[in-house]
Amino acid sequence: MGMRHIVRVVDLVKHYFLEAATVRALDGVSLAVQPGDFVALMGPSGSGKSTLLNLLGCLDRPTRGHYYLDDEDVSEMDDDQLSEIRSRYLGFIFQSYNLLPQYTVVENIGVPLMYQDRRIDEASRQRCMRLADLVGLGNRVDHRPMQLSGGQQQRVAIARALVNDPHVILADEPTGNLDSHTSEEIMTMLTKLNEAGKTIIMVTHENDIAAWAKRVVRLRDGHVESDQRNDAPKIGQAPNPGFMATLNALMAG
Ligand SMILES: Nc1ncnc2c1ncn2[C@@H]1O[C@H](COP(=O)(O)OP(=O)(O)OP(=O)(O)O)[C@@H](O)[C@H]1O
Ligand SMILES: [Mg+2]
Repeated sequence: MGMRHIVRVVDLVKHYFLEAATVRALDGVSLAVQPGDFVALMGPSGSGKSTLLNLLGCLDRPTRGHYYLDDEDVSEMDDDQLSEIRSRYLGFIFQSYNLLPQYTVVENIGVPLMYQDRRIDEASRQRCMRLADLVGLGNRVDHRPMQLSGGQQQRVAIARALVNDPHVILADEPTGNLDSHTSEEIMTMLTKLNEAGKTIIMVTHENDIAAWAKRVVRLRDGHVESDQRNDAPKIGQAPNPGFMATLNALMAG
């Protein structure tokens, strides 16, 4: 029996065709990720990290190659199919949080549910409230992003990434705008999500942040340069005693 992979890309190519030149952002990347893994994607600026993460997130299509998400080939899907896949499988966390400024905390957490054409019914609203509570923002549910610190905004983004109970969480420099203490809080939370079974793929420039991951993949010039397991990934203390139980209950389906 073969090993099961939740994410598998084969000879993935992404070229940008500009008037003056062709940019080979990804030039044949193959990578397989098992369920429950925690991968840090590293590499110099321009090596293709964000391009790869965007393809993994079904936010863009490859020029060539295949992408299997839970054994389903998503490389040839149209926009509607991709957005369905995004809401069924994926949660996103960005460096700049990407919250909607006019929405409250609890409304921002519910945004992925609105893209599914689902009305925010009472059960969904309760779920968003519990997620706000989980990330320690139970007393901030009616605040708007501007009224929150960077770390609090990123915690809203984490709650939003969880609202659909995704299989895979994709994070592009999730601590890039945060100080080291707040980064530690956010990384602790990500490791707890991983402990609860979420597969995480995270782009980072910083060795200190990659040290929390179980595996480090380095890109260079659109290729995988190295791929190493981390034998002793950093782990943090749960933010509060009931955290894992609440998380598991919220993620049970
Ligand atoms: N939309 C685009 N059109 C043309 N070229 C692009 C586009 N997006 C990215 N590129 C180019 O593709 C290459 C890879 O870019 P990418 O954003 O993936 O790098 P990165 O590894 O995320 O870098 P950084 O660490 O600076 O964020 C770069 O040379 C970049 O200029
Ligand atoms: Mg980038």
